[in-house]
Amino acid sequence: MLVRRETSDDVEAIRTVTVAAFTRPGEGVPVEAPLVDWLRACPAWIPELSFVAAGPGGDVIGHVVCSRGTVELAQVLALGPLSVRPDWQRKGVGKALVHAVLGAADALGEPMVVLLGSTEYYPKFGFRLASEYGIAPKHAEWEPHFQVRTLTAYDPSVRGEFAYAEPFDRI
Ligand SMILES: CC(C)(COP(=O)(O)OP(=O)(O)OC[C@H]1O[C@@H](n2cnc3c(N)ncnc32)[C@H](O)[C@@H]1OP(=O)(O)O)[C@@H](O)C(=O)NCCC(=O)NCCS
Repeated sequence: MLVRRETSDDVEAIRTVTVAAFTRPGEGVPVEAPLVDWLRACPAWIPELSFVAAGPGGDVIGHVVCSRGTVELAQVLALGPLSVRPDWQRKGVGKALVHAVLGAADALGEPMVVLLGSTEYYPKFGFRLASEYGIAPKHAEWEPHFQVRTLTAYDPSVRGEFAYAEPFDRI
């Protein structure tokens, strides 16, 4: 498996992987698939922070993206969606993608990465409950799953309410 930045040739395959990862039996196209496309078309998209995992034959088997978000007036990152093709799950692909995007975000001098996600999965990568850092979600019910990973440029004075990029409001 290789982890690399997405290219324009990957767009369709990323959509396919995202649909496969998030589809639940009896439900239609998961919102995460159009969300990736909406993000790519909006100013919050950061090309340096969209990574694919390519399998042995070169197929896209996973994808992760961080987009621009804010905490009050400060610029931060939001991680997600993160998708691994079902037949490749639990084989280290998600782990490789998360490490890649966190390393790249740190190298870009970003202060923190925020997400809404599993508190069993993301703490493996240094995420902690956002409340520990004084970062609040827009909706109080997100609190138990709302997490922050601080990076080298973290500034503890950045506190307050987090906002995702506009496309997240459409889902
Ligand atoms: C969640 C997801 C991204 C994980 O990717 P993955 O490639 O299957 O996971 P990895 O093999 O890299 O797992 C890394 C570690 O996390 C554990 N893990 C994997 N999925 C997990 C989950 N859903 N909950 C808790 N732990 C999990 C693995 O056992 C492994 O543990 P270890 O390092 O102690 O061995 C993937 O299963 C997926 O695409 N799921 C559907 C979409 C989704 O839920 N995305 C995340 C949205 S928050």
